[in-house]
Amino acid sequence: MSTLMVYESMWGNTRAVAEAVADRLGEDVTVVEVSDAPARLPAGLDLLVVGGPTHAFSMTRAKTRRSAVEQGADPAHVERGIREWLDEVEVTDLVDVATFDTRIGGPMQHLPGSAAKAAGRHVRHHHVGRLVASESCYVDEGQGPLSAGELGRAQAWGESLAHRDRVGPGGGGGPDGAV
Ligand SMILES: Cc1cc2nc3c(=O)[nH]c(=O)nc-3n(C[C@H](O)[C@H](O)[C@H](O)COP(=O)(O)O)c2cc1C
Repeated sequence: MSTLMVYESMWGNTRAVAEAVADRLGEDVTVVEVSDAPARLPAGLDLLVVGGPTHAFSMTRAKTRRSAVEQGADPAHVERGIREWLDEVEVTDLVDVATFDTRIGGPMQHLPGSAAKAAGRHVRHHHVGRLVASESCYVDEGQGPLSAGELGRAQAWGESLAHRDRVGPGGGGGPDGAV
C-alpha cells in the first residue's frame, strides 16, 4: 500500500501524531511537512493522510499561524498550511483520504470545531478523494504536550487505516471519528 502523509505542526505535537500514525501504515509511506508536499498527488497512491492542528475551530490560516508564532512557535511554519495545500493540490486518481488533527482536550474536548472535520469536508466538497476516516488527538494545553495515551491511540488509528478494507468505509474513527 502506497501512502502519502502530509502534516503541518506549529509546536511538533501534530508531527508526533503523524509519525505515530505513519509508523503503522506499512513499508511504503512518505511523510512530508506541508511546505514540502507535492503539488500533484503521485500516481498509484492508495492512501493520502492529512493532518494539522485545530486553530479557531478549523484548519489553520496564515493569521492563526502568525498568532502561534507570537506565542513562541517557529516562524518557518507560517507560510503554508494543509488548507492552502488542499486548495491547490492536483488530483488525477480518486484516492482514499484520511484526516486528523490535534486540539485541546479536557473540558475543551467537547467544544465544536476540528481541523480534521474541516479538512474532511474540503476533501468531499472539492473531490480530492474518498474520505475514509477522520480522527482527533488531544493536547493538554495549546503548545502541548500530547495528552497521556494519545500516541498509542494514533498508532492504533494508523493500524486501522492500514486494515481499512476489513473495517469498512469510515472505520477507524474514535468517538470523534465521524465526519
Ligand atoms: C491561534 C490558535 C488557535 C487555536 N484554536 C483552537 C481551537 O479552536 N480549538 C482547540 O481545541 N485548540 C485550539 N488551539 C490549540 C491547538 O490546537 C494546539 O496548539 C495544537 O494542537 C498543537 O499542535 P502543534 O504543536 O502541532 O501545532 C489553537 C491554537 C492557536 C495557536
